[in-house]
Amino acid sequence: MSAIELEHTAGNSDRTPADAPHGVNPELSIEHVSREFTAPDGSIVHALSDVSLSIFPGELVSIIGPSGCGKTTLLRLIAGLDKPQDGTLSLAGEPIEGPNPKRGYVFQQGSLFPWLTVEENIAFGLKAQGIYRERKADVARYIDMVGLRGFEQAYPHQISGGMAQRVAIARALIDHPDVLLLDEPMGALDSFTRADLQDRLLDIWEQYHMTMILVTHDVDEAIYLGSRVVIMTPRPGRIKEIVPIALDARDRVSDEFAAYRKQLLKKLHFDAHEVHAGNSAAVAASVQEPATVSGWDTAKKED
Ligand SMILES: Nc1ncnc2c1ncn2[C@@H]1O[C@H](COP(=O)(O)OP(=O)(O)O)[C@@H](O)[C@H]1O
Ligand SMILES: [Mg+2]
Repeated sequence: MSAIELEHTAGNSDRTPADAPHGVNPELSIEHVSREFTAPDGSIVHALSDVSLSIFPGELVSIIGPSGCGKTTLLRLIAGLDKPQDGTLSLAGEPIEGPNPKRGYVFQQGSLFPWLTVEENIAFGLKAQGIYRERKADVARYIDMVGLRGFEQAYPHQISGGMAQRVAIARALIDHPDVLLLDEPMGALDSFTRADLQDRLLDIWEQYHMTMILVTHDVDEAIYLGSRVVIMTPRPGRIKEIVPIALDARDRVSDEFAAYRKQLLKKLHFDAHEVHAGNSAAVAASVQEPATVSGWDTAKKED
């Protein structure tokens, strides 16, 4: 069972701070947020439409949904890399108005500077802020934490994809963020590397009591890591449902785990039919069939 037990009712898409567990103020409040983009053909894409979500201190929330449902848009808004047309976002009561190292961001892949070593990539932010000298010991600490000791002087092309993602995580952690935003950080990894990294993330989460928001397209990953799974649907991007996960143990082969997997796959597959019925083949193709959603049931990967 995760450290955080939250008594939320599923199926409520209008999640305002009123949903907070008794006496707990949300760390992150997303209220009625909408974000539109203009597509190259001039049409309007409703990337997010009236999204409200409260995330509590120390919570690890998974966000899952088909490609194009606005997951990255939502993370970018939380990071302060983008602004909504409507609605508000706030962290610990302060409006989010721009990027801040307190909100660390881990991208899917390829975010390392290829000309810098592992150590230099991790230390980059500290150097940019002029605080490298006093925080130098942190670099070694985080290299240890993500299991990269011995690879400090390696360049990105000399390490595996899983190791590169560990560098990206250490680089975000070095700023001691209150909230770590993870945008499909394990999406391009094989099942074994992915499982290893999931456990490392859990260790970090347990050790630092950090709030984490994990975007994933992997149902097992969402269940394994999240104390709640936020299911999103595309066009317009909305929160369809929030499923609380109350597992006795993080055991991927337990009956309990299988029951959650079945529940989530059903909900996601139902969406696939909705999309198939009403939208273009391109959109339909972006929704994965259940057999390929789980990183454990198949070797097929998105990338
Ligand atoms: N900068 C942008 N300009 C135009 N359209 C965008 C932009 N960013 C995202 N979109 C569109 O918004 C929708 C949601 O995108 P995104 O948040 O990346 O989805 P996801 O991460 O769930 O795959 C998609 O249809 C995408 O094409
Ligand atoms: Mg995305």
